[in-house]
Amino acid sequence: MPVWNVCGGNRLNGSVAVQGSKNAVLPIMAASLIGGGVSRLTGCPHLRDVDASMEILRELGCGVMQNGGEIVIDSAGMCRNHIPHALMLKMRSSVMYMGAILARAGDVRISTPGGCELGSRPIDLHLKALRALGAEVTEQGGEVICRAARLRGAHINLDFPSVGATENVMLAACAAEGETVLTNAAREPEIQDLQAFLNAAGASVHGAGSAEIHICGFHARPYVTHRVMPDRIAAATYLCAAAAAGGEVELLHAVPAHLRTVCAALEEMGCTVQRGADHVRLRSGGALHAAHPVVTKPYPGFPTDAQALLMAASLRAAGTTVFIENIFENRYRHVDELRRMGADVRVEGRVAMVSGVERLHGAPVTACDLRGGAALVIAGLSAEGETAVCDSGHIERGYDGLADALRALGADVTRAEDAEEK
Ligand code: UD1
Repeated sequence: MPVWNVCGGNRLNGSVAVQGSKNAVLPIMAASLIGGGVSRLTGCPHLRDVDASMEILRELGCGVMQNGGEIVIDSAGMCRNHIPHALMLKMRSSVMYMGAILARAGDVRISTPGGCELGSRPIDLHLKALRALGAEVTEQGGEVICRAARLRGAHINLDFPSVGATENVMLAACAAEGETVLTNAAREPEIQDLQAFLNAAGASVHGAGSAEIHICGFHARPYVTHRVMPDRIAAATYLCAAAAAGGEVELLHAVPAHLRTVCAALEEMGCTVQRGADHVRLRSGGALHAAHPVVTKPYPGFPTDAQALLMAASLRAAGTTVFIENIFENRYRHVDELRRMGADVRVEGRVAMVSGVERLHGAPVTACDLRGGAALVIAGLSAEGETAVCDSGHIERGYDGLADALRALGADVTRAEDAEEK
C-alpha cells in the first residue's frame, strides 16, 4: 500500500500547472460513445478513474489510445451494452455510461453503484429522468436495465440539482426526438464542459451553467477534438496546502471564477489572493484565523469536494471554524485521523467545529477517501515532525502528480512506493 511520508514545516513557493479535471473528463469519455465517431481529448489527467473509464470503453468495443495527456477514442466499433460489475466497481462515475449507452444503443445494462465511502449513492433521480424520456427501466438483482425503442424529449425537473443526474439526462436526451428541457439542473462548471464537448460532437445543447438546460438533438460529426477544463478541486488543494504551510504559490491554468468560494474563505482566513485571467496566486503568512461558517452546497456554493481540504487548512487557525456538510452523509471520515495529529474537531451530525490549535504533530494516519486523503497530506505539511498517510489508492483516484508538484513547491513529501522505485 502506498504511504505518503510528509515532513511538515516547509513553506511552499513557486508555481504549479493545474491538471485537467477528473469530474469533467469522465462524463466526456462516456459522451464519446454517442456519435459513434472519433473523439480526441487533450489535457486529460493520469488517474486511476480515467484508466477505469478507458477499460470500460474498450470492454464496450471502442478503440482507445492514450498518449501523455491525450486520449483518442474511436467508438465506431461499440458492440456491447453491458458493463460488468467488476468494472463498475472501479469507478463511481461509471453510472454516467447509462445515459450514454442508452443514447447510442437504445438498451443498456449496468450494475447499480450501491454505497461508497461517502455514504449511500442513490440513483433514483437518474432513473426517474430517464423514464421521463421514455425509457423503460427495470431494476433486478443489483442491476439496472434501461430500454427505449425511441426516446422523446420531455420537460424534466430534478428534485435536487444532482450533477450525475444532470449529466445522464444531457447524454440520453441527445438521442431523443424533440426538445428536452431540464430544470433545477446542476450548474457545476463540469456540466458546461460536457455541453461544450457534446456541441463539438454535433449536439445542440444550451443553458449549461444555469439551472435550465435545453437539449435539442444530435447530428453526429465523425471527428471531435476537445480540451478538458482545469480541475477546480485540484486547484483548491494547492491553495489550501499553501494556506496551511505558508508561502506563495501561483496556479497556472486555473479558472478564478470556479474557485470563488474557496478563495473567499481563504481570504477571510488571512491569505492574500490575486486573480488573473487564467491563474491565481495565493500568499499566506502561515498564521491564519477562522473563516465564517463553511456550508457545502451545489455550485455556485462551496464545493463538498473542498470541505476536507479547507478543514485541513483551518486546523491551526485562531478561533473556531464551523463546517456544515449538506451534500454527503459520510464526509467527515478524515476527522478522526486529523485528531490523531492533535487537531481539535467536534462533529455533531452534519456540523463539524474546528477549534484552532497552536501546533499539530505528525502521526500515522489513514486516508479513508480521496479528498479526505489529500486533507491529511495538507495537515501533514503544517504539522511538526513526520506524518505517514497510509492510502489504499484513494488519492491516486483524483490527483495527477500531487507528490511531485508539492515537492517542486518545496514540500518534503515522498510516496513510499516512489522511494522504493528509485
Ligand atoms: C457530487 C457533487 C459534485 C462533485 C462530485 C464528485 C454536488 C451537488 N455534487 O456529484 O459537485 O463534483 O460529487 O465528488 O455537490 N442524490 C440522490 N439521488 C440521485 C442522485 C443524487 O438522492 O439520484 C443525492 C446524493 O445522495 C447526494 C446529492 O444528491 O446527497 C448530490 O449528488 P450528485 O450531485 O448526484 O453527486 P455527484 O454527481 O457524485
